[in-house]
Amino acid sequence: MDFRIDAVRAKFPALSLIDKGRRRIYLDNPAGTQVPQAVADAVSRCLLTTNANLGGFFETTVAAQDIVDEAHLAMADFLGAASPQEIIIGANMTTLTYHMSRTLGRTMKPGDEIILTRMDHEGNVSPWLQLAEDLGLVVRWLPFDQQSWQIEEAALAALLSERTRLVALNYASNLTGSINRVKALTGIARRAGALVYVDAVQFAPHGLIDVQNLGCDFLICSAYKFFGPHMGILWGRLDVIDTLKPYKCRCSSNALPERFELGTPQIELMAGLSAAVDYFAELGAAAGAQGSRRLKIAKAFEVSIAYENPLAQQLIDGLSDIAGLTIHGITDPKRINERVPTVSFTVEGIVPETIVRQMNAENIFLWSGHNYAWEIVHQLGIPAEQGVVRIGIAHYNTSAEIDATLESVHRVVAMLRQE
Ligand SMILES: Cc1ncc(COP(=O)(O)O)c(C=O)c1O
Repeated sequence: MDFRIDAVRAKFPALSLIDKGRRRIYLDNPAGTQVPQAVADAVSRCLLTTNANLGGFFETTVAAQDIVDEAHLAMADFLGAASPQEIIIGANMTTLTYHMSRTLGRTMKPGDEIILTRMDHEGNVSPWLQLAEDLGLVVRWLPFDQQSWQIEEAALAALLSERTRLVALNYASNLTGSINRVKALTGIARRAGALVYVDAVQFAPHGLIDVQNLGCDFLICSAYKFFGPHMGILWGRLDVIDTLKPYKCRCSSNALPERFELGTPQIELMAGLSAAVDYFAELGAAAGAQGSRRLKIAKAFEVSIAYENPLAQQLIDGLSDIAGLTIHGITDPKRINERVPTVSFTVEGIVPETIVRQMNAENIFLWSGHNYAWEIVHQLGIPAEQGVVRIGIAHYNTSAEIDATLESVHRVVAMLRQE
């Protein structure tokens, strides 16, 4: 097997931590992953040896600039961007999306239309909704199909008009886990003259992103979901972002990407970001890839997917045995490639939080609630204040952990039913 799980786990110190004699099982990954030692080392090295602001001529300021440049290059490789100038790095997905939405708003006028989905995380909904309120834009809502769990091309086509300026959609859902056919959806939207803004936060840890092949105009992700530090990365197509005028200080640079990166960057986190990308490249090299960093990253995802998908199926099959339990997402093994390994469920008559609290007490880390998939829970008719139980696998999880988790779900559900 090209994916050596023991070698992978050895890179993540947090995986071997024990609390009061209990091992940890991290299945909170859609909310944030653990980091390899190399990422923490890079952050620490930057703070301890090259800590300076940018733009000067002395040793540390020059070294800090190198770190910033390298982070943009690394993310260009990670996303398949044509140039590091297309990579905008900031606090997180939500902040960057608010920033870009305001920038794009400067090009829109009352009566213009935008399309938002019932499948997206609030980070790709609220910024646009509030922009629409501010500018008098018309919002058209795109539902997901409850059979396929995806956004269907026909549903998008039906909403587009000559006034559509933007379509904001997600690559993979943080609740159902389903993956959208982003390339096909993007083609339809762009032919109608709309810009396409893709939230790839949940896809990025699980599959190779190729922004040029997708054909979208913007794509955003968050490094802390793919083994990096807490920060967000926005890719924008060069010919699009070069025409935009973001809100910024008058005297700051107009160059790309600096035009969009406000204030002093998170330099130490950028050091960690490059290390996270290099972690993927090393994984690909260990699996036999040679050549460019991009080729190695591609191989890393190939072996990671082959490892993760059986774990996801193991989880789905084990949960499906529980009477009264509903998985909200794709369960068909033939469609395992159309989802990421994030599995959400509800159990008839049991509040999700009560299950999660019991399992958290066994040191199995997972979340309940709507997880900001506010539109999804509403479309599914799930009470938003309760939401779902969400189990999210990363490629450092093991089959034994999934077994232990399933055993816990079975036991906890049986116990709560007796109460
Ligand atoms: C699909 C999706 N989009 C956006 C976000 C928001 O990301 P950030 O915390 O970087 O703002 C999340 C966070 O969980 C998410 O899962």
